Amino acid sequence: MRTIIQSLEESKIREVANAGLGREGVLPFWFGESDEVTPQFIREAAIESLRAGETFYSHNLGLPALREAVAQYASRLHQPISADRIGIAAGGVNALMLACQTLLDAGDEVVAVTPVWPNLTAQPAIMGAKVRCVSLVPDAHGAWQLDMNQLLGAVTAKTKLLILNAPNNPTGWTLTRAEQEAILAHCRNTGTWILADEVYERLYYGGDTKNGCAPSFLDIANPQDRVIAVGSMSKSFLMTGWRVGWLAMPEGMSAQVGKLIEFNTSCSPVFIQKAAALALQRTEEVTPRIVAHLHQCRDKLIKLLQETQGVKVAAAPGGMYAFFQIEGHTDALQTAKRLVLEAGIGLAPGNAFAPEGEGWLRWCFASKDLSRLDEGVQRLQAWLSQQK
Ligand SMILES: Cc1ncc(COP(=O)(O)O)c(C=O)c1O
Repeated sequence: MRTIIQSLEESKIREVANAGLGREGVLPFWFGESDEVTPQFIREAAIESLRAGETFYSHNLGLPALREAVAQYASRLHQPISADRIGIAAGGVNALMLACQTLLDAGDEVVAVTPVWPNLTAQPAIMGAKVRCVSLVPDAHGAWQLDMNQLLGAVTAKTKLLILNAPNNPTGWTLTRAEQEAILAHCRNTGTWILADEVYERLYYGGDTKNGCAPSFLDIANPQDRVIAVGSMSKSFLMTGWRVGWLAMPEGMSAQVGKLIEFNTSCSPVFIQKAAALALQRTEEVTPRIVAHLHQCRDKLIKLLQETQGVKVAAAPGGMYAFFQIEGHTDALQTAKRLVLEAGIGLAPGNAFAPEGEGWLRWCFASKDLSRLDEGVQRLQAWLSQQK
């Protein structure tokens, strides 16, 4: 077996979740998904497709209708993009892996900004690339910031790929337009590819962009730039379990990615693609409501946590997480495990996302019922008062 595969770490989030699974009454906030089911009309579209007997393979890159729906969706939000630059994948995670498979040879240098969802550093490592991390740094209030000089200094002509996830999981940190422009200009000079994980682009609370989305590389890159942006149905359509996402690629690249899709999944399931296409066409009925609700969830949880003695947390501009510290609790994995067993709250340990996340905890605030967040914070506060 390849040593890199043997050395892949099991998810620390799973380690905590496993400690809590099967325990009565634990409130789970550990995974990155809402507890709200996919809207009815999207589910009906998948059922209708199956009823119609659409049980066959599709083109590797996806149904033309879905590629067109993604292109129109992305064109509405960003700059015009044609459907031949879109490839459909089995979720954002598969789209990211396809990008890594397409670009990376063993030994290539990759720079990634961390803390980040662990898959983003594991995927290039699986390809045999050497991943160097540039760390975000928390300010005195607990808001994570990027040191642009450090990032631009780390990306050189030797860097094949820069991986950025903004809005970021777990910190909620989001790139500004000015930062994106500087990064793109720099990477044009060094010849570095940019892999922009933008699956949280709609979950943005900054209020300073015309389309309501987080700033996207698709707003500024031209069709020849070495930029791949990854999107997903998971977060902004409540479709995590469906496994459908996409890559938006430079001109002339999709045929190569299509070859790789053949060897990975061959194609995404057709009934799922059909439902995704309809969801994208009717996004205005779904996404603004979800985002407005998540905004409320964020504001509520941050306020409650800020009122909790010993907790340091800042309201981040994007994503679906509160990333926070509790004074005196420096071992994140141990704290998360104790919180499951002793307080009945399921959180993710910050060091699952990078060593600099040690001592931090991630709380997914995507909760259909806001009172679940109240209940979670009450449990945390009661537990903390017993520690004194
Ligand atoms: C940063 C980030 N990128 C990509 C994904 C992948 O999402 P999916 O594969 O469900 O589209 C996730 C899921 O949590 C994520 O947090």
